Formats: sequence, C-alpha cells, structure tokens
Amino acid sequence: MAAQLIDGKTISKTLRQQVAQAVQTRKQQHRSVPGLAVILVGKNSASEVYVQKKQDACQEVGMQSYLYRLPESANQQELIELIEQLNSATEIHGILVQLPLPEHIHTAQLLEMIVPYKDVDGFHPYNMGRLAQRIPLLRPCTPKGIISLIDHCGIELKGLDAVVVGASNIVGRPMALELLLAGCSVSITHRFTRDLESYVRRADVLVVGVGKPNLIQGEWIKPGAIVIDVGITRDAQGQLKGDVEFDEAAKRAGWITPVPGGVGPMTVASLLENTLHAAELTDS
Ligand code: GUN
Repeated sequence: MAAQLIDGKTISKTLRQQVAQAVQTRKQQHRSVPGLAVILVGKNSASEVYVQKKQDACQEVGMQSYLYRLPESANQQELIELIEQLNSATEIHGILVQLPLPEHIHTAQLLEMIVPYKDVDGFHPYNMGRLAQRIPLLRPCTPKGIISLIDHCGIELKGLDAVVVGASNIVGRPMALELLLAGCSVSITHRFTRDLESYVRRADVLVVGVGKPNLIQGEWIKPGAIVIDVGITRDAQGQLKGDVEFDEAAKRAGWITPVPGGVGPMTVASLLENTLHAAELTDS
C-alpha cells in the first residue's frame, strides 16, 4: 500500500477532546451546558445505531442530549409542534431530526421548521444557502468532517480538481460546496453521469458517498489522489464495505480513508462542534 491512511478515529478523538474542553470552560464560567435534541421517528435499525452514537458522544464531552422518540405513525403536525417547542426551549441549542423519515412525512418542509441557528445538521436552506454564498454558519456534518480530515493531514486543497460521486442533500451537494469554498475545481457526478470512470481518473480529490460497495475501481484512481470514502454497507458476510475498492485504490492514492474508521467518526465529531457553535450563537 502506497497511500497514507487517514485515521478518522484518532482525528475525531482530538476534536472531541477540544469540544469537551470548551464545554468544561463554559461550565466554569457558569454559562449554559450545550443541549442537543434528537428526534427519532419509527424503527430503523441503522438510525437507532447512529442516534445512540450521537447521544454517547454528547455524554462523553459533557453536553446534554435529549431523545424524542416518536412512533412510525407520527404525523407531520405532531412533528412540527415538537420542533416549535424545541425551537423555543432555552436548554436546547441544537435540534437534529434523524433521517430517513417515514414516507408519509414531508422531510424538506419539516427541516425548514427548525430555527436556523439551532440547525446543527446544517440542512436548513438558510444554512445550505450560507455555505453556497461563502458565509457558512452551521455546516452539514459529514462534509465538514471531511474538510477537517483533509486539514489535519496538512493537505492544501486550493487549485485541485475535485470530483464528488453522489449528489445527495446530506453528503454530495454540501461536499461540493465545501470543496468549492476551499478553492477546488469541482465536478459532481450522479446516477445520470455517462462516464464515471473518466471523472474519477482526473480527480486529485475524490469523495464518494453512494452506498454501493466497489462502485469505484481501484485502477481508476489517479496516482497520488486523496480518496475519501463515505460509503458504508454491510455485505453478506456482515463486513462493512466502502464504495471504493480499497486494496487496489490504496496502491495508487496518496491518501485514503478506511471503512470503517475514516469518515464515520468525523460526522459525530462535527455534530458536537456544531452543537457547541449553536450554544455560542444562542447564548454566549
Ligand atoms: N441520516 C444519515 N446521515 C444523517 C445525518 O448526518 N444527519 C441526520 N439527521 N440523519 C442522517
């Protein structure tokens, strides 16, 4: 393997320690303890795991977390009322609605109900718009975590050709905006892209967030490229797999994230940073 491994587990630990220190300082100054409200609707086993990780992380850094569990049958109005209540609750600084929601819920409408300065997922059109206009406020967690990883490795992004594979609201779109903000020339590919391989071959920075194991062949990777794999899928043997053919890609890349232990832990670390940031915004 020629590539250097980007160790998200270790880097995220450093970030969590920094957040814990800042929370401690707030407590010493008799300021409020940052509080995160998580809304979980229905029973989705992956969401259960993610939400537990988020709550454990809050506890680890000394933040408060509040879980609001609603049944699959919850309707739009009940969810709107809960968000309105959390918007005005002074002990809550961040509000997160775990996705995906049941199909009968209008997700975009619901996310827009969150007051933007408590929107710790950064999915509200206000926060996405701020990022698009180069004045980011609360930034979507996974792309923000990826930028932190790249910064930690001391990599200069300015002028690089970046390719983002997957155009989701959670990863691909905000990732492209982050890379643009960092000075990359950015292409986004998606399900209608005709020649994925040709995009990948020219990428100095490749970020893949699709959820299809081995979608990206290792031999497509440009020598020396930075390869960030957001995909995480459990295969038939129960193993977690990324979207990139890791072994082959690692022979060519300059830097590469493992799955697991790459991007995953960074998403949670960014959420903690955002919750701290939100607390500083709402009550300094
Ligand atoms: N589901 C998958 N990823 C995420 C995320 O980053 N935030 C929320 N709220 N739901 C998700």
